[in-house]
Amino acid sequence: MKIIRTLYDMTEYRVRQRDRGASVGFVPTMGALHEGHMSLVEKAVKENEVVVVSLFVNPIQFNNAEDFEKYPRTEEEDFKLLAAAGVDAVFAPTASEMYPAENDNCKEYKLGNVAEVMEGKYRPGHFQGVARVLDILFRLVNPHRAYFGEKDFQQIAVVRNLIKSEGLNVEIVACPIKRAADGLALSSRNARLDSEQRQLAPEIYATLKYSVEYSKDHSVQATHDTVVERIDAIPGMKVEYFEIVDARTLQTVDEWEESNWIVGCITVYCGEVRLIDNITYRLPN
Ligand code: PAF
Repeated sequence: MKIIRTLYDMTEYRVRQRDRGASVGFVPTMGALHEGHMSLVEKAVKENEVVVVSLFVNPIQFNNAEDFEKYPRTEEEDFKLLAAAGVDAVFAPTASEMYPAENDNCKEYKLGNVAEVMEGKYRPGHFQGVARVLDILFRLVNPHRAYFGEKDFQQIAVVRNLIKSEGLNVEIVACPIKRAADGLALSSRNARLDSEQRQLAPEIYATLKYSVEYSKDHSVQATHDTVVERIDAIPGMKVEYFEIVDARTLQTVDEWEESNWIVGCITVYCGEVRLIDNITYRLPN
């Protein structure tokens, strides 16, 4: 497996692969890899001749300096996992390589209304930071397909808009959420939970699952409120937002009949650790 640190070497590698006609799959990550990431990698390895994974904790998508500082970094272990999974190249640049001081990083991406709600509202600047790094990475790696996990449901909608507005030619492959045996959605941030928090955190998904049954004979508002009340009642947990939205527009719905694809997206503070998850209430046939 090739480890690439510079934009120049990444460009050279990509040109060589595309010149020989290889299909290229790309998995962008911030490292601290877990089984969720590895399920994207496995799919990419199956579906492409060459797979590139990026490992880069993108400073400009963090709106909280402490969250950035404390984000887990496990590069050596990540390299081992990726090599064992059959990845061809890892792109792991430094921040100054990605964002040279002389470059203008102030471009405003057109990401549409899907970027204004939920994470967009609670983490100002977050999606512009995600768009900036992915714009650079997509142009550099020039993949045929890029793989994203549905835990970050909103991020996938934002990335699709980025692709359209920037005229990028990459197919986005959305992959199902991977969960621990107790239901907790896998996330690099789970490593920051202490043992008590880790025991309580599966209650987020348990409550979401319960709410799907509850929703069958209750209104959207009642379903919303029961989720928030139940999670807020767990010691050390606080819901930042829970929104029941149309899965395409990400705008909230008032009635179940409003859309044939409805998803509930939640963010919960478990102590200081911010966890996200989502659940489907309605799915088109
Ligand atoms: O989902 C993530 O890990 C990040 O937002 C991404 C897509 C790698 C961009 O930094």
